Amino acid sequence: MKFLALFLSTLLPFSNALGSRSTSASPYGVSLQATIQVAPENATRFIEIAKPIVAVPLCHFFELYQSLEDPGVISWVENWDATAEWLVNVQLPKEYYKGYLEATEPMYIRPREMKIVNRVGPPFAFYKSWNREA
Ligand SMILES: *[C@@H]1O[C@H](CO)[C@@H](O)[C@H](O)[C@H]1NC(C)=O
Repeated sequence: MKFLALFLSTLLPFSNALGSRSTSASPYGVSLQATIQVAPENATRFIEIAKPIVAVPLCHFFELYQSLEDPGVISWVENWDATAEWLVNVQLPKEYYKGYLEATEPMYIRPREMKIVNRVGPPFAFYKSWNREA
């Protein structure tokens, strides 16, 4: 799966997701966690535009969340079988994020928050079979 990324003409917007120093790679890969905020009336349109951008091989988990208090606060989690460096330097600059970003960034009413963290792995990761999928 692929999804969020940003950037208009440079990698700058991603640089803070990686942090100031490189950490050791987790055998479980990394999780990209992002939050954006749009006006409540733009939330449905944001989600519709984001939908086609969800399908890249090394992303093995993706889930989008919407705030209970404000439907314009939308966050998501992407788990990648990859390193943070690969995600930032190889995946996020891919061409197909451009149209998505150009269409969605004008909706933002505050800057995107994004971080990349190591997955700790079992037993701190599980997915029960009854977890509802849409
Ligand atoms: C909704 O999104 C559009 C961009 O698609 C933007 O121009 C507009 O200002 C947004 N509405 C609000 C209330 O932020």
